[in-house]
Amino acid sequence: STNKTFTMIKPDAVANGYIGAILNDIIKDGFQIKAMKYIHLTESEAGSFYAIHKDRPFYSELVAFMTSGPIVAAILEKDNAVESFRTLIGATDPTKAAEGTIRSKYANSIEANAVHGSDSDANAEIEGNFFFSQFERF
Ligand code: CMP
Repeated sequence: STNKTFTMIKPDAVANGYIGAILNDIIKDGFQIKAMKYIHLTESEAGSFYAIHKDRPFYSELVAFMTSGPIVAAILEKDNAVESFRTLIGATDPTKAAEGTIRSKYANSIEANAVHGSDSDANAEIEGNFFFSQFERF
């Protein structure tokens, strides 16, 4: 495994005022921020980011949700980053997320689940490259 993952703080968590709390949990868990931006995705951007899910029944709702307000996107670094971050955020469905995880604390539903975390090293690379140029990484 590599040492980088990609995350988004989703529109629900931004609207609910959790940007600071979530970044604090991420930093306290030992992640370093390599790149970060605050943006409002267009339908076309959200659609291509989630293209892997385009045949799922929830795809159009997911794109509508992800364009409903601004997000925070970031590349994070830590040993074993993808797996470590998935442990920190908990299960996709917040009702199944372990106590103390970010989704357990800040998420509302399986769709409005507060944060995204890459599910593999290959996707972490693809997703980071979707948002950030080489000049935006430190
Ligand atoms: P994420 O980890 O960003 O990857 C895909 C997203 O689709 C997921 O988080 C949820 O926001 C959403 N999602 C996954 N499963 C469902 C579902 N069953 N119903 C609605 N949205 C879902």
